[in-house]
Amino acid sequence: MNDRSQSLFMRALRREPTPRRPIWMMRQAGRYLPEYRATRKRAGSFMGLAGNPELACEVTLQPIERYGFDASILFSDILILPHAMGLGLGFAEGEGPYFERPLRSVDDIEALPMPDPNQETGYVMDAVRLIRASLPAGTPLIGFAGSPWTVATYMIEGRGSKDFARAKKLLLAEPVAAQQLMNHLADATAAYLAAQVEAGADALMVFDSWGGALSPTLYREFSLASQQRIVEYLQKHCPDTPIILFGKGCGQHLTSLAATGCSGLGVDWTMDMSEARQRVGDQVALQGNLDPAVLLTTPEVIASETRRVLTSFGDGPGHIFNLGHGITPGVDPEHVTVLVETVKNWKVE
Ligand code: CP3
Repeated sequence: MNDRSQSLFMRALRREPTPRRPIWMMRQAGRYLPEYRATRKRAGSFMGLAGNPELACEVTLQPIERYGFDASILFSDILILPHAMGLGLGFAEGEGPYFERPLRSVDDIEALPMPDPNQETGYVMDAVRLIRASLPAGTPLIGFAGSPWTVATYMIEGRGSKDFARAKKLLLAEPVAAQQLMNHLADATAAYLAAQVEAGADALMVFDSWGGALSPTLYREFSLASQQRIVEYLQKHCPDTPIILFGKGCGQHLTSLAATGCSGLGVDWTMDMSEARQRVGDQVALQGNLDPAVLLTTPEVIASETRRVLTSFGDGPGHIFNLGHGITPGVDPEHVTVLVETVKNWKVE
């Protein structure tokens, strides 16, 4: 037991009653915040920021200090792990991430090394330890990684993609090599997440941002199965640490995801919370699901759309308020204040 285990966020994850609903935001440390942009400028590059434990700690704490969010999330990226496998991560200004050495053959897959989380990604574990020591004692810290499928799309395409042509072709035409890649990534990801727990993370989240791009068959065989493998490893190695699975565009898979044994599911904005709850509500906590575009509107619209999400979940425990995906760079920071106040004051007089 520690101070965090009784926090609103950890209690909601266990679906215990809370006096109000906890709230945090995906990408809460990001470019919409002027203080983030200032630190990012000092760091020079994204990797100069994510690769420096002091600076990563500084930006992780910024949204906690400004808004009093109920959970913090490690400042890092899902592409740090393939970078540790030697693919060479870069960020083209304004164009997003790319790899210098993407996977181009079955031989490339077979040659992938298994990084030691405390060596190649030792700087991430240093950041986790520093953040844990710097956060308010009662604020939980979420560690994270990408899902094997989502990370593999960048490793295979070499960059972000709209149609995932190369990655899907691999799953369909080379299913044995594709499965080998998924298993390799699942094992590396599980060890990486367990090391984050060892370093001080209180909960874990797996981002499957592109799970919704797959047919149901490919989804089950590759994305779901590899997430299941991660959950099983973590249940054995860190049985007390709750895991949240977030699959964008994966509403139709919520019941399969709940059956993995995770504690919580992230829900994007394409499904009403009431519907998500109807499907899985008694098995897992639910996190979400305001459309990030709402934050681009007006305080009135933000407050009413936020209440719509709160009402849609309904009464009872197990709701962690969040966006349905990451906050976008152009949002007015004052608009986030409106969101946070609306959630914190909901039915609390
Ligand atoms: O949520 C947080 O505050 C923690 C930090 C975090 C980042 N990336 C920081 C980041 C997390 C959890 C991620 C996850 C991530 N990264 C995902 C999964 C979640 C999602 O949004 O779907 C994905 C697909 C990535 C890959 C990635 N990293 C992309 C596509 C980009 C560029 C997109 C963009 O907004 O420019 C990044 C870079 C990145 N990662 C930024 C941040 C704050 C912006 C880069 C910058 O500041 O220069």
